[in-house]
Amino acid sequence: MPDHEGVPGRGLNAVVYLSYTGNTKKAAEHLAKKSGWPLYECGLAGIPSVYENLLFLAPVHGERLPEEAFRFLENVEARKVAIALTFGRIWHGNAIEEAARKLSLPLVGAMYLPAPHSYLHHDDYEMPLNEAEAILRAFRKDGPLVLPKEKDTFGRWFFPKWRARAGAKVAPIGRCTGCMACEKACHFHAVHKGMVDGTRCIRCGACVSSCPEKALTFHLSPFLKAYLKRKRDEKVTIYLAE
Ligand SMILES: Cc1cc2nc3c(=O)[nH]c(=O)nc-3n(C[C@H](O)[C@H](O)[C@H](O)COP(=O)(O)O)c2cc1C
Ligand code: SF4
Ligand code: SF4
Repeated sequence: MPDHEGVPGRGLNAVVYLSYTGNTKKAAEHLAKKSGWPLYECGLAGIPSVYENLLFLAPVHGERLPEEAFRFLENVEARKVAIALTFGRIWHGNAIEEAARKLSLPLVGAMYLPAPHSYLHHDDYEMPLNEAEAILRAFRKDGPLVLPKEKDTFGRWFFPKWRARAGAKVAPIGRCTGCMACEKACHFHAVHKGMVDGTRCIRCGACVSSCPEKALTFHLSPFLKAYLKRKRDEKVTIYLAE
């Protein structure tokens, strides 16, 4: 039996992902191919809510899971869950531990996978997808997985929404053809023909990366620019249950 097949069961084994700028989607596609499990995009209509083994992937946002990921996980039933988060090589904090604890998930595996950063246009870092395959072994384990505490960045708890707003803004830079691709990509109804409603926008970058004309860009605050120049953390971290 291949490493990832888990204890034979009657339910659905699947890979589900949430992705805004494409990194997590790429990792999820790779792991779905390797496992042979069906791939679902979180948030799309018709996605199952009951699983035998669920591998869930999402990006790290401000050392947390995005709220959309929380909403998905709190409404699913699964016998075993493994969570893999891509992060922009700054720091992931305790994002998986926090989600597993708050949602009482039957966690058997956790992975932090370094990835290009959504805010850096010329970040051509290649995700180590071969290394990431080890997360599939989690489904041979019985759990529960208790994660060790990682360090939290100072300031993570202070006004995360305000900090996201102050740090990055999506701005039009001309050339808009009105094609609506940005509107379709935005999960928050926060952009129309390149004009962004800053009160709804979570600065996820989906509109910026979906625009065929490259008519949108991120304006970053000097503080965030300096923060993004920090030394990169390129370690794949994987925890498996006993
Ligand atoms: C709003 C926001 C917050 C982010 N916070 C972090 C962070 O705390 N640490 C980090 O290393 N990368 C951070 N990133 C980078 C993403 O985690 C990374 O680029 C991820 O792979 C994006 O996944 P996606 O392309 O599937 O959306 C952040 C990106 C965004 C848009
Ligand atoms: S995707 Fe780009 S070109 Fe199309 S409407 Fe949005 S900003 Fe304009
Ligand atoms: S408008 Fe904001 S929330 Fe919507 S896709 Fe763009 S960055 Fe994300």
